Amino acid sequence: MKTKGFIFDLDGVIVDTAKYHYLAWKALAKSIGIDFTVHQNEQLKGISRESSLNKILEWGNKTLPKDKFMELMKEKNNQYLSYITTMDENEILPGVTQILDYISQRKHPIALGSASKNSKIILQKVNLLDWFDAIVDGNNVTKAKPDPEVFLKAAKAINTPANQCIVFEDSVAGIQAANVANMISIGIGDSTILNEADFVFKDFTEIHVDFLERLIKTKKEELKKV
Ligand code: G6P
Ligand code: MG
Repeated sequence: MKTKGFIFDLDGVIVDTAKYHYLAWKALAKSIGIDFTVHQNEQLKGISRESSLNKILEWGNKTLPKDKFMELMKEKNNQYLSYITTMDENEILPGVTQILDYISQRKHPIALGSASKNSKIILQKVNLLDWFDAIVDGNNVTKAKPDPEVFLKAAKAINTPANQCIVFEDSVAGIQAANVANMISIGIGDSTILNEADFVFKDFTEIHVDFLERLIKTKKEELKKV
């Protein structure tokens, strides 16, 4: 049996920070006279800080000079950081610690594949950093999801071929990135939103050991047929 590599997105998969990104972007957008819906917010999940601001400006039909753009990105991040200062283990999403434990006991490598530049601080705050063999995040990539760069770099960092990697994602852009990378994509969240994923679960408590065993034993090409 070949070793499988497990790649986790961070925000909305490992920790409940997607809500803080939403609140911070919503306030920032409001300050420049733009509003957007929870539905539109799905498009902001998984993409970089810069791409998010570009999308919000597009929704509001606005353009900004470079210095103002940079200032707003900083403002959003400061607001976001203020939300996460008091974060601790309580914000780890259900079933995450158990699945990390299951995978590492079986000696499969674990990587983070996130667009966030704050990933290390967050993993430290919730005390999960030590589970990861590699961290690839917004500080190491130049192309935002749905580009597969972040996942391909993560696969390389854990020395596992792309088609032996399994990606957990809560965003449409992230599922698309995993699919383009030829990895097994597992959506965590709403199956109507994440309908491009190979499999979708509401949260990790819905993923049972028999499914994990099948994931580990079966080749990507065979997996969906079983
Ligand atoms: C994640 C989140 C996005 C966020 C992006 C950048 O992918 O899903 O909502 O905008 O990371 O995060 P950062 O913490 O660097 O602003
Ligand atoms: Mg996410």
